[in-house]
Amino acid sequence: MDLLTVVVDGLWRQGSRSLAVRLVAQDGEPLPDWQPGAHIDLHLPCGLIRQYSLTGPESADEGYLICVALESASRGGSRYIHQQLRPGQTLLISRPRNLFALQTAERVTLLAAGIGITPLYAMALRLEADGVPFTLHYYLKHPQQGAFVRELRQRFGAEQCHIHSSSEGHSARQHLCVALAEPLPGHSVYLCGPEGFMASARRVAREKGWPDEQIHSEAFQPVALETSAQGDDTFRITLASSGQQWPVPPDKTIAQVLQENGVDIPLSCEMGICGACLTPVIEGIVDHRDTVQSEAEKSASAQQIALCCSRSRSANLCLDL
Ligand code: FES
Repeated sequence: MDLLTVVVDGLWRQGSRSLAVRLVAQDGEPLPDWQPGAHIDLHLPCGLIRQYSLTGPESADEGYLICVALESASRGGSRYIHQQLRPGQTLLISRPRNLFALQTAERVTLLAAGIGITPLYAMALRLEADGVPFTLHYYLKHPQQGAFVRELRQRFGAEQCHIHSSSEGHSARQHLCVALAEPLPGHSVYLCGPEGFMASARRVAREKGWPDEQIHSEAFQPVALETSAQGDDTFRITLASSGQQWPVPPDKTIAQVLQENGVDIPLSCEMGICGACLTPVIEGIVDHRDTVQSEAEKSASAQQIALCCSRSRSANLCLDL
């Protein structure tokens, strides 16, 4: 795996629940370029690997900026960052990976909830620099919980940036119908936030007549899966390069079966949220269980499968490996 060694250059509070973390290369060189929507894997000394969106201005000289909310249901990553990470500490990170890139559009609506502001803050800066008209709606429970609120207010006018707080009676649930009222050609929408928010925004967008391909989203939370007996049957995988075949039983992932048989595959989140393990499928019907790919990608003729979590609806799946 191609990892970069970085140093924690600074840590500071962003709102009442988040920490901004600046990472610079240990050798003092600029870090690889990135584009808004990109994320990195952070390899924490406690053994966890977590994905965080890059945020702020895209400046190679200033290192990478991420922002981490303290999750009440933390699986350990955000707790470590909030309680143990210190300036000067060395960490390993992946190169930036972008599965949420801005597409060319005449106009853009950015809808963020909670810590979902991180990729969208970077997008707003890029859209402003490119002269693309945009509106950012940032939904929060309490105004003091927001990250980058001061920066957003200083940088963007009240027409461009709207901060809605449900504690003040402006909930996302009520406002999404207004933000998504008019589907227009050439107009793209980018969503980032907790799963419930994204599901509501997608439902409202569909009701208002937005085509799926104009709605782009990213969620760093695995989607709760409905377990279907049918989807959990044993199936077979075939490697296109060698013709080797192995069964994948219900209690194992494709990735586990491949690794047990000595096939080296890139893995990171192992929850279908980072895209590290996406692999082209040559034949077979994929039972997609990742949240990395859009609905359009999941139904395209050229299919990719997240080996860490997705399964097969056909008896055999031939992988481009
Ligand atoms: S390892 Fe992250 S999507 Fe599979």
